[in-house]
Amino acid sequence: MLGLAKQIDEAAAFIRSRWTGSPKSGLILGTGLGGLAEEITSKTIIPYAEIPHFPTSTVQSHAGQLVCGELRGVPVVAMEGRFHFYEGYSMQQVTFPVRVMKALGADTLVVTNAAGGMNPHYELGDVMVIDDHINLMGDNPLRGINDDTLGPRFPDMCEPYSRELSTIALQAALELGIQAHKGVFLAVAGPNLETRAEYRMLRGMGADVVGMSTVPEVIVAVHAGLKVLGFSIVTDICLPDALEPVDIQKILAVAARGGEKLSRLIPKVFEKLT
Ligand code: HPA
Repeated sequence: MLGLAKQIDEAAAFIRSRWTGSPKSGLILGTGLGGLAEEITSKTIIPYAEIPHFPTSTVQSHAGQLVCGELRGVPVVAMEGRFHFYEGYSMQQVTFPVRVMKALGADTLVVTNAAGGMNPHYELGDVMVIDDHINLMGDNPLRGINDDTLGPRFPDMCEPYSRELSTIALQAALELGIQAHKGVFLAVAGPNLETRAEYRMLRGMGADVVGMSTVPEVIVAVHAGLKVLGFSIVTDICLPDALEPVDIQKILAVAARGGEKLSRLIPKVFEKLT
């Protein structure tokens, strides 16, 4: 594990050699939700491949890059493209960038994702502020020897998503006229979508939306002491008794629509933080 601390330091030192800012917040932009990166000003862009110890991209994953700059005056480090567990990365690889964001000085992490809507009140393209999560990925990024310099062995999970930040986000949504729900995100490993029986079970467990990301990064963020704000965009409707086959192109188109909402909403949240 000491090896991990050294790798984090080396990655952070490299980023500092390219960008002299000190981020207040990290941002992880989910599938189809990269549009927000265009709102970042005074940017320095660093391809993941250049950063020491960053996982190397698999063929399918989009060219990932770190976008460092300012969002409404707040210094941020944004991941355009994340590492998914279903791509074959280990949980440690998936969450490494969060460790680096913390090492760079961030005290907050904003995460976004595309998710399937199981709450019957949710519609395509809706925004959900993540209130809580359920980890059904079958693995955990904190498994193994704990490095106490990075965080506690048994991190508390009574408030993984900052209530203060969620409240600010819901207020920002109201001011912008964007309808936003507050609900529970459930993470599965993927890559297949769920069967009707699985959606029925997951909904019964108390989840509003389901996706294949976010939870590992949030667990590590909590371990590292970061405040977290999370958003899901409902990209497909997962009602077990009216399920239609998913069309990835359609999901991406809906994500783009939702991404446009987040591109207005998240800067507004940052405006309120300053
Ligand atoms: N299930 C799991 N992950 C997803 C879904 C879904 O229905 N939609 C988008 N990501």
